[in-house]
Amino acid sequence: MQVDTEEAEKYIKKCSIQKWEEKMGKLYGIGVGPGDPELITLKGLRILREADVIFCPEKAEGAGSFAFEIIKEHLEGNEQEIVNLVYPMHYRGGHLQEMWKKNADRIAGYLEGEKTGVFLTLGDPSVYSTFMYTLPYMKAAGIDTEIIPGVTSFCAAAASARTPLVSWNERLVIMPVRKNSSDSLTKIIDENDNVVLMKPSADREALLQALRDNSEDSCFYLVSRAGTDQESVVNNPVDLSGTDIPYLSTVIVKKRKNLDNY
Ligand SMILES: C[S@@+](CC[C@H](N)C(=O)[O-])C[C@H]1O[C@@H](n2cnc3c(N)ncnc32)[C@H](O)[C@@H]1O
Repeated sequence: MQVDTEEAEKYIKKCSIQKWEEKMGKLYGIGVGPGDPELITLKGLRILREADVIFCPEKAEGAGSFAFEIIKEHLEGNEQEIVNLVYPMHYRGGHLQEMWKKNADRIAGYLEGEKTGVFLTLGDPSVYSTFMYTLPYMKAAGIDTEIIPGVTSFCAAAASARTPLVSWNERLVIMPVRKNSSDSLTKIIDENDNVVLMKPSADREALLQALRDNSEDSCFYLVSRAGTDQESVVNNPVDLSGTDIPYLSTVIVKKRKNLDNY
């Protein structure tokens, strides 16, 4: 029998890659919802309880993880390893990539063998989430990944405000509030049926100005700490003056004229 050495070599290489891949663990990015421990999917809960290691993002060392606080009651009696990873909540500085890489290396270290890890994400992993900074490095390290969606903060906020987020053929814009952005905020609210403003505490004054500029045509709901026992919903501009806007707040702005169609 004639052996095709080139084919054989390819096959051996394929097997050894497969074997190598089999030894790597798996990382699940799980959305834990915005604050209510019951707003996690059944799939997310099962994987969370079965995982060997739970990775929790925190904004500074020792700051703790709100995502972990949300799900910790589900882990009672479990003895999983809990690992906090620092992900700063700002966009400044060239060291961010370095930190993501460092965190990814730590995660990969914990998942050696066939361990399973869970990376907790507030709300849903696809929306402004630290998990996405880690994902490319996991892929590069040959670690299998899977994303388990969660309830986003803006869906929870709409539910708390008992308002539709978007209906019929309306448009929806989702964006963060950035510092010194009042002009663009005013314009974006003016030009769209529905606008979700995330991280509104980043520039409270810009937000208030944009809401004032659009008050004739648009109404708003500012939902803070949705799903927790400190939840609040504000929709009267008077209630905004002099009060702080917590980081865990989401604003939904809607055109008044569309509300007649519901
Ligand atoms: C880093 S982003 C995370 C978004 C998250 N991945 C999601 O799916 O909603 C943080 C922002 O989400 C919003 N947020 C998260 N949890 C919230 C809550 N419980 N109530 C209101 N807004 C919340 C706020 O706008 C906050 O500034």
